[in-house]
Amino acid sequence: MNLRHVGTLIFFVGCFAIIDTATVAEYITVFHKYLENPSQMGEIAPMSKSVGKELIKYVEKNSLYKNGEGQYYLEAGGGAGAVSVCIVEKLRPQDHLDIVEINPQLCNLLRIKFKQYKNVSVHCCSVLDWHPGYTYDVIISTLPFLSLGIEFARQAIPYFQSVASDTCMFSCVEYPIVTKVKMLAYRLGLNTVKLDVQQYMARVRSRYLKEFKTVYSNIPPTNIYHLDFGKHV
Ligand SMILES: C[S@@+](CC[C@H](N)C(=O)[O-])C[C@H]1O[C@@H](n2cnc3c(N)ncnc32)[C@H](O)[C@@H]1O
Repeated sequence: MNLRHVGTLIFFVGCFAIIDTATVAEYITVFHKYLENPSQMGEIAPMSKSVGKELIKYVEKNSLYKNGEGQYYLEAGGGAGAVSVCIVEKLRPQDHLDIVEINPQLCNLLRIKFKQYKNVSVHCCSVLDWHPGYTYDVIISTLPFLSLGIEFARQAIPYFQSVASDTCMFSCVEYPIVTKVKMLAYRLGLNTVKLDVQQYMARVRSRYLKEFKTVYSNIPPTNIYHLDFGKHV
């Protein structure tokens, strides 16, 4: 870690530790994981409470309107658990949450964090290798599709649809700053930059989009998309 990284880290921790739910240790872990593998991690700081609140909109609706029925929720890319905490707050005893996270250290952290909840399971694998044997009522993904690449995105979207119930909402994120920087680099002729993932994700959204919001109180500001993956036949 060089001086620039330390400076950035101190700034972020200072700004956000006081106003958010993630601990300072979680900020450090996430930043450290980002330095180890930026494209897999896809974030430099845990997602903010405001992002969490927007992402769980349909979990909240389900717990209000689907009275006695137990609901199944999937979170893909649990990270250090900032969004998971928001989901867990809305869980009723009859609901179940599966958190799938690829990084073993983050999985350990998540297991410790949610060990008192019998209806929360942490699965340490790529989400593509998670085969639940049931379908989900809401899927929340904070996977960084833009950095994970087109091959991953092309497998992940059909995978999520295959584990979606007939009324499933799929809520996911994209950083507008990353989209803009990639677009600029592409226009400047950087031949390593491709727009294939963002074009693919834009096509997915144009087909299924139900609601969209930009949340500015996050590092960096985040677009949140709620897609209707229900099968309306
Ligand atoms: C943007 S971060 C997660 C943010 C987190 N939900 C939060 O609340 O701060 C994306 C996470 O996805 C995980 N990830 C990346 N590829 C994955 C995959 N194929 N399957 C499951 N998790 C993956 C990364 O390890 C990382 O923790």
